[in-house]
Amino acid sequence: MTRPGIVVRAPAKINLHLGVGGPREDGFHPLVTVYQAVSLYDDLAASDGDDWSVSVTTADYIHPAAVPATGDNIVDRAGAALAALHGRERTGAITIDKAIPIAGGMAGGSADAAAALVALDRIWRLDTSDDDLLRLAADLGSDVPFALIGGTALGTGRGELVEPVLDEGSWWWVVVPSPRGLSTPEVFGHFDRMFPAAGEPAPADDLLDAVATRDPAVLARALHNDLQPAALDLRPDLAAVIERGEAAGALKGMISGSGPTVLLLCAHRIQAQVVAGALAVAGHEVVLVANGPVAGAHVVEYA
Ligand code: C5P
Repeated sequence: MTRPGIVVRAPAKINLHLGVGGPREDGFHPLVTVYQAVSLYDDLAASDGDDWSVSVTTADYIHPAAVPATGDNIVDRAGAALAALHGRERTGAITIDKAIPIAGGMAGGSADAAAALVALDRIWRLDTSDDDLLRLAADLGSDVPFALIGGTALGTGRGELVEPVLDEGSWWWVVVPSPRGLSTPEVFGHFDRMFPAAGEPAPADDLLDAVATRDPAVLARALHNDLQPAALDLRPDLAAVIERGEAAGALKGMISGSGPTVLLLCAHRIQAQVVAGALAVAGHEVVLVANGPVAGAHVVEYA
């Protein structure tokens, strides 16, 4: 029997500011970060049924082999957590259409988890409160709560405590995924080795002031990523991507989160297209243009 379904879209995230402190007792790192949701999306379609299944299709620029095997991925866990909260069975057929680079430092898995929470809440008719959804999201991963709220937001704790930031800018990014992913725990571990004396995470005040100006040249000077030295040490080839993008006219290049995706902030859409074109000519097979801020996980279709 075909049952009514839903499509939920969730965005990739970037970190405009990523201040990282020394590891806590639980192994996580205290963060002060400013997230921005950008216009690269995974779409998650869900309809209820008697069983539970998750399948994945990918954009042509994502290698299907990079997709984590189903069975115990973050979407399975999102379904289990929401079902447990309401004391019900986990049922449904889920299809994820992935366009967010995988293992790229753009929180694609977190986007899928957020989309699953929103979709299952609707098709199971649960009306879960925002507080409960945010709590379940935080248990699933440090940046899942942000994928729910989207926009631009300040993140603290291990990144799971999120607070929206007024952002009236329209920021244009060139996104250069890497053919090989980087493991987030590995990059954090390398950060610990490189900076054994790390104390409190760097505050985000300068970045927040820069966002308020709505001026990309000002934002370019305030971008900050404490994981960048560790990511570049593990993947020295990425420095050339940043340099190439800046030489092509981007205001500033940086590593996205724990990498290896490279971000290039541009003054406006046309400049982003020019920079993307130059990188494609230089031999980069996948170069994307995205803008932010955009909405968090939201329903786009009732089928
Ligand atoms: O929270 P999440 O499951 O997404 O984190 C993945 C991994 O990244 C953690 O297991 C940890 O190794 C690292 N991490 C960290 N500090 C954070 C967030 C993540 O060390 N604040």
